[in-house]
Formats: sequence, C-alpha cells, structure tokens
Amino acid sequence: MANNTKDNDKIVIGNWKMNLNVQESSLYLNKLANLIQTHRDVKVILAPSMIALQTLSLQVNYHEFKLAAQNFYWRDEGAFTGEVSATQLRGLVQYALIGHSERRHVFAESDKDIRNKVQAALRNGIKPILCVGETEWERNEGETEDIVRDQLVSGLANVTSEDLGDIMIAYEPVSAIGTGDNSMPSDAEAVIVSIRKTIKRLFGAKAGDDIKVLYGGSVTSATAGGYLLKPNIDGVLVGGASLESNQFNEIVEQAYEATR
Ligand code: PGA
Repeated sequence: MANNTKDNDKIVIGNWKMNLNVQESSLYLNKLANLIQTHRDVKVILAPSMIALQTLSLQVNYHEFKLAAQNFYWRDEGAFTGEVSATQLRGLVQYALIGHSERRHVFAESDKDIRNKVQAALRNGIKPILCVGETEWERNEGETEDIVRDQLVSGLANVTSEDLGDIMIAYEPVSAIGTGDNSMPSDAEAVIVSIRKTIKRLFGAKAGDDIKVLYGGSVTSATAGGYLLKPNIDGVLVGGASLESNQFNEIVEQAYEATR
C-alpha cells in the first residue's frame, strides 16, 4: 500500500475541529467543491467532525477531496462508551490525524496512546497523519528537536518500513496553533529537516527523503505560500483558515503554484 514517491506533490489538510453540525458540514463541502479546482499534484484532505463523516463520505467526490478523522480510539471494538474505533471508520475516511496537539495537551493523550493509534489506523487501512510539535516552554529551553525526535521515535515504534509509506508527519509547534503566532517558514523548515534526519536514522535515507512532512499552526492564505515554497515542506495543515472557503481555496491554489 506504500504510496510515497519522491515528488513535488503538495498536500493541504483542512482541520475543521469541533465546528459545523452535519448540515453545515454538508453545505460547506458543497461550497468548497464548487470553489476549489482539482489539481493532479495537490491532494486536499478534509477533517470534519466525527458526526459529519458518514454524510460527507457519501457526498464527497474522492477525486476532489479525501476525508480524515480528527481522532478515534485505538481498540477495534468493545466496552468503551463514547468512543469510535478505526474499525468503525473504515470506508468513511482514508486518513486520520493522530496526536494532534489538542489531543495531547487538552485530552492528555500519551505517547503510548498515540503509538497505539498509529497501529490501529494501519491495521484498519487508514493512513496516519502523525502530529508532532514542541510547547513554547520547550522551544525556549532549546529542546525542540529532542522533543520532536522523541515523539517520532515513540509514535513510529512499531511501524515497519513498508507501513511508513502510508504515514505523513505534521509538524505543529503548540504555541502556533490557533494563536496567529505562526512559525517563520525558515524555522519550520529547519525542524522539518531534523524530522527527515530522524526518519532516515530509523528507516533509511530514502524513507527520510520520501516521507511527506507538513507544517501546521496559524497557516492562513497570507502565510501559506512561505511554507509551501520550502523544499522540505510538503504541505500545510490548516485549522481556522480552513473554515473560510475563500482563504482555503487560496491556500490550495498556492499549493498548486508551488508544484510548478
Ligand atoms: P490553526 O490550527 O490553523 O487554527 O492554528 C492548526 C491545527 O490545529 O492543525
């Protein structure tokens, strides 16, 4: 199932977080479908609320958009009141965000939870988007690269080289998420180069070159281009700005420009 090839393809992910009800999500998908042009080299992935996935999975044109879950529980089934498993998401989504900063910091997800979720996604044929990133305090202490490396080593602990081809990494500094305080593209690029180094050490040089690594954290249509033009950054994970159709469309167009 490996799909990573060394290419200049770009990826734009819209994380709608806990916004929009089912009907609003459906209308918004329709709006995006009318607005956004499909480009062969740009993959657009939408992560709506869990409750909208069923409806959107029937509505979406998969040539235009892929769907991602924002979260799930790592057991496949059982007495886990209120949870949804990757097994239940099979067929509804192609991707899943795993270890998003809000899951790590608001819901206290541990590295072990995240590692288990990576495994659960893979065993259910869902491609993990593993999110990593340091807090502001860790950055100020000069620990960014160590923290991110530890998150990668832990999250990918049981992953085979073959499975790695189905995994994307999203680097999101915690203090940049939802704050308007986005990283400088050159700073994001430097951390992403260190992410590739870690992947090379774990899985070999080709894997480190091939893996898709995105930046996220207060990306807007005004800032996306700076990241998308960096050679080591394969795309952007967009939260707030993904809920504004014109901005999101502009970001997709900037991704397309960056492929040319
Ligand atoms: P933001 O969110 O773009 O609103 O900062 C990014 C994310 O949470 O992935």
